[in-house]
Amino acid sequence: MKRLANIAVLVSGGGTNLQALIDAEKSGVLKSGKIVLVISNNPDAYALKRAEKAGIKSEVVTKKDCGSREGAEKKMISILEENRIDLIILAGFMSILSGSFTKKFDRRIINVHPSLIPSFCGEGFYGLKVHEAALKKGVKVTGATVHFVNEIPDGGEIIMQKAVEIEEGDTPEVLQERVMRNAEWIILPMSAEKVSAQIIEKEQK
Ligand code: GAR
Repeated sequence: MKRLANIAVLVSGGGTNLQALIDAEKSGVLKSGKIVLVISNNPDAYALKRAEKAGIKSEVVTKKDCGSREGAEKKMISILEENRIDLIILAGFMSILSGSFTKKFDRRIINVHPSLIPSFCGEGFYGLKVHEAALKKGVKVTGATVHFVNEIPDGGEIIMQKAVEIEEGDTPEVLQERVMRNAEWIILPMSAEKVSAQIIEKEQK
């Protein structure tokens, strides 16, 4: 029998994308990987409650407790290695990882971003700010992107994208909900499955 890829999900907030991954594992959409760990850089993240409810081990790693981003990344690396993590999923993780961290896990980190990259992405574009920028520009179509993470913020190879229509009268909050429901919660689990399957397949060659 094939082994499953060990997945760690990095979060900072509500964790609806984490929930989509948990649900996908239950429904069988995510079948080549198993979520074994959740790491939050925010001790108050609701995502931690979702992990607890699903019986998934979690850790909190903050820059404040570790003294610096470097210290926090060092701690995360030791936790990720201890848990033999094959794939790291950034699901609303609101911190930019250093080049040395992303190099260490080359093609082993994926991120979901709430726009069609290369629009509205890079440093400073996160969460609601992305939807505010899309509405301000007046684009008629937006969406979400899942991509590999490298040293350039939102600059790694694109894995999947899904478009979402902007509607008359949209607020950033309304648009965020539609992009999550109609794009992020669908393409993040599908991408997690795709990359997990690739990792396991490669190992068996
Ligand atoms: C999601 O919309 C995610 O795409 C976005 O933050 C939200 C987190 O929601 N991430 C970024 O903007 C990263 N650049 P969640 O905690 O409910 O999954």
